[in-house]
Amino acid sequence: MIIQPFSEKEPTRYLGGGFHREVIVHPEDSNWVLCKYRHYFANKCIPNEISNENFIKASFYLTKLVHSIFPNNIADIRSACSEPFFEIRQRIIYIDYAKDYVKRKELIDSVLEKTGYRLDTNYKNYLVDQSGNIVYCDVFLPFYSSGIGHGRFDMPKIAVSIDELPNDKKDIATKYLKRLETLTTTA
Ligand SMILES: Nc1ncnc2c1ncn2[C@@H]1O[C@H](COP(=O)(O)OP(=O)(O)OP(=O)(O)O)[C@@H](O)[C@H]1O
Ligand SMILES: [Mg+2]
Repeated sequence: MIIQPFSEKEPTRYLGGGFHREVIVHPEDSNWVLCKYRHYFANKCIPNEISNENFIKASFYLTKLVHSIFPNNIADIRSACSEPFFEIRQRIIYIDYAKDYVKRKELIDSVLEKTGYRLDTNYKNYLVDQSGNIVYCDVFLPFYSSGIGHGRFDMPKIAVSIDELPNDKKDIATKYLKRLETLTTTA
């Protein structure tokens, strides 16, 4: 699959975009989206907070983990790649953004409590799907730019949360957590 840099010129597939990304429907499967990092596609460089080479890998595992804990409220991820810099995510067919801050806050607080991660509060990251679920679609930033060991999440909290999952989900989530730990300590 060749990934074209200028999605905004493909209005039939273009879904949205913010500071970091442009999001388009996956050209080969409309159940998924491509999230392309603007800075990479514009000039092959990426903003400071995502400049660590392990960023995209750690972001993938963190997204998988938070999705396992909140399957209806965090969009799943299928793959993440650094050359070129993009992700493939579950496409959310949405009827609106979750403009009500109180509802967003409920999800923000639960994710914080179960993972230690602070979701971006901007309403454009919260889609209301056809079943009425609020689904967070933004990237997970795994690290602070201060470097090794400075995860934006709480490893022991995530470990407790995945321990509460059913066995079939727990096994794979435990593998994701180990991978995230390695990436965080060697970043
Ligand atoms: N999984 C998805 N399914 C459907 N639409 C999506 C999905 N992810 C993102 N979008 C659309 O694309 C827009 C931008 O996505 P996203 O928040 O990932 O970009 P961003 O560059 O990180 O934004 P910002 O940096 O401003 O928060 C969303 O507001 C939404 O309209
Ligand atoms: Mg966003």
